Amino acid sequence: MQFRISNLEFRIPMSHPLFWLARKSDDVPENNDWLSDAERDTLAGFRFPKRRNDWRLGRWTAKQAVCAYQSLKRSDLASLEIRAAGDGVPEAFSNGTAREVSISISHSSGQGFCVVGPPELSVGCDTEMIQPHEVQFFQDYFTAGEISLLQHSPADRSLVAYLIWCAKESALKALREGLRLDTRSIAIVPDFEQQDGLWHTWTGLCQDSPRTFRGWWRSQDGFIYAMTADQPTSSPVKLSTD
Ligand SMILES: CC(C)(COP(=O)(O)OP(=O)(O)OC[C@H]1O[C@@H](n2cnc3c(N)ncnc32)[C@H](O)[C@@H]1OP(=O)(O)O)[C@@H](O)C(=O)NCCC(=O)NCCS
Repeated sequence: MQFRISNLEFRIPMSHPLFWLARKSDDVPENNDWLSDAERDTLAGFRFPKRRNDWRLGRWTAKQAVCAYQSLKRSDLASLEIRAAGDGVPEAFSNGTAREVSISISHSSGQGFCVVGPPELSVGCDTEMIQPHEVQFFQDYFTAGEISLLQHSPADRSLVAYLIWCAKESALKALREGLRLDTRSIAIVPDFEQQDGLWHTWTGLCQDSPRTFRGWWRSQDGFIYAMTADQPTSSPVKLSTD
């Protein structure tokens, strides 16, 4: 936003929303017509069926999300390519040219999740199916403060644990590092109001720097979804593919 008083010009940074889409394995077409030649080569290189299925689900979800975000047509799917950069971050291209978009992909237990934002943001997302675990399971991955939060939380412990985990992973992805960094290098402070299907906030405090991430989480149908970016964003918006 830009405004002028007398001869002085002011610019106020506006926060963008992040856009998101979720897809299930069953939504992915059986054929590979929607993949580019290079993507089909990548697919052929995976040895394990689980990796093939996860990768196809992630590509299908991301292509649908980018098409909806940039108003592309279904016939553009095969020329839209989601490539992995050298550090693993997914990037969208059309006919070899980078698209003006920033994306993050996650897949877990047959659920695909993609977050899309403007190219000047570095975005990160994660989804996981909530499963019961003892607190000890998280001891090696969580900070002492997070473990204490888990032990004393009035909310469902498994939900809180997976919410913390997904928030961490989304921040680590926005940093383009993933699990190359220690998961304890970011301490998560969530907003706990538990209402299925609504987005809530969380804050991620980097332990080795003054850097802070502001993110969003929600639980739905037994899954946790989390997202963030390297700048604050407004409440997430679901992409429409109709
Ligand atoms: C990124 C990472 C945290 C994902 O963990 P996960 O919970 O198993 O998987 P998710 O489904 O949530 O996310 C996977 C997606 O993250 C994305 N990703 C991979 N590396 C990434 C990175 N450094 N930063 C951001 N996103 C990344 C990819 O799109 C990947 O999906 P795809 O390979 O099908 O395109 C993990 O793979 C990682 O830390 N990778 C970097 C370290 C590395 O390369 N280790 C060697 C692995 S053999």
